[in-house]
Amino acid sequence: MRCIAISTPGSPGVLRLEERPLPDVGPSDVLVRVEAAGVNRPDIMQRLGRYAPPPGASDVPGLEVAGTIERIGPEVRRWQPGDRVCALVAGGGYAEYCAVPEPQCLPIPSGLDRLHAAAIPETFFTVWTNLFQRAALREGERVLIHGGTSGIGTTAIQLAWAFGATALATAGSDEKCAACERLGARAINYRTTDFVQAVRALTDGQGVNVILDIIGGDYLGRNIECLAKDGRLVQIGLQGGSKAEINLTALMQRRATLTGSTLRPRSVEEKGAIGRDLEAHVWPLLAAGTVKPLVHSIFPLERAADAHRTLESGAVIGKVVLTT
Ligand SMILES: NC(=O)c1ccc[n+]([C@@H]2O[C@H](COP(=O)([O-])OP(=O)(O)OC[C@H]3O[C@@H](n4cnc5c(N)ncnc54)[C@H](OP(=O)(O)O)[C@@H]3O)[C@@H](O)[C@H]2O)c1
Repeated sequence: MRCIAISTPGSPGVLRLEERPLPDVGPSDVLVRVEAAGVNRPDIMQRLGRYAPPPGASDVPGLEVAGTIERIGPEVRRWQPGDRVCALVAGGGYAEYCAVPEPQCLPIPSGLDRLHAAAIPETFFTVWTNLFQRAALREGERVLIHGGTSGIGTTAIQLAWAFGATALATAGSDEKCAACERLGARAINYRTTDFVQAVRALTDGQGVNVILDIIGGDYLGRNIECLAKDGRLVQIGLQGGSKAEINLTALMQRRATLTGSTLRPRSVEEKGAIGRDLEAHVWPLLAAGTVKPLVHSIFPLERAADAHRTLESGAVIGKVVLTT
């Protein structure tokens, strides 16, 4: 099969098209003929040598695919060859074929094409497990979403809105702020406005109940200042750094909870449980068009380097997708 390999850590040019044997298919795996694969920020971190695949995962980048099941392992119960699925994978997505544990596959939501289906799993699994399971965001609450036009942000704004929460989102340009507003959030241009003051102003001084943060670093203390009483801060990215000093008094005064998680190293069982929850609660919304993955640009597999350059340019609203 053709796939994309990281020849050595570095700039997008290190992504090379290679021929490799088909991946091994375990007893509980399906082999997916990949038609489209989503591109995510963690793929860039992997290319740079800062995010190694977990033990046992393919070294080929790519955390999500959509396509048709070609073959199934002897213990697979739910799927048959010919079924069309989208899937969360721990690696190996940038390829013509990808082996996937059965529980990590979901049916392509009705009405969605393969390109949009490939843009779903990584951000929907991440947002669901962090915003709704971990931070327990509820109807009527207020949530601050940093990076509102990222793949994660566009998903989080839509799901918050769909489940009756009020979303506030940060973005780095007026154009991106307008996109956040179209998705249903009150937008804050973090380059021209102090987001702590903006959150206070937009919440009548109450603060937000939940924050989904992809920045870390010096955002940590500022995030805590934005929290309402009993607020929950979920850390899922570290684009601003992994170390920070905070005033613990501010945490205590708010009775705040600070948490976070990474999806990729979680077990097949845990990912399967998230998938089942998504299928029950979110798949009907995708089928109805209430929420939809935003596809910004599409590249053929062999132009994976251009796909990475595009995501790194900062111009993307939503997702970049590869086709095989
Ligand atoms: N923990 C997990 O399980 C998990 C899973 C998936 C992804 N992630 C993390 O989630 C993050 C987003 O991933 P993605 O694939 O959705 O990325 P992406 O589409 O490449 O978006 C990155 C975003 O970061 C925003 N940003 C950069 N600096 C910012 C700042 N100072 N304040 C607010 N926003 C800022 C950019 O917005 P502007 O252009 O507006 O600045 C951009 O929208 C990454 O950090 C990734 O590692 C974590």
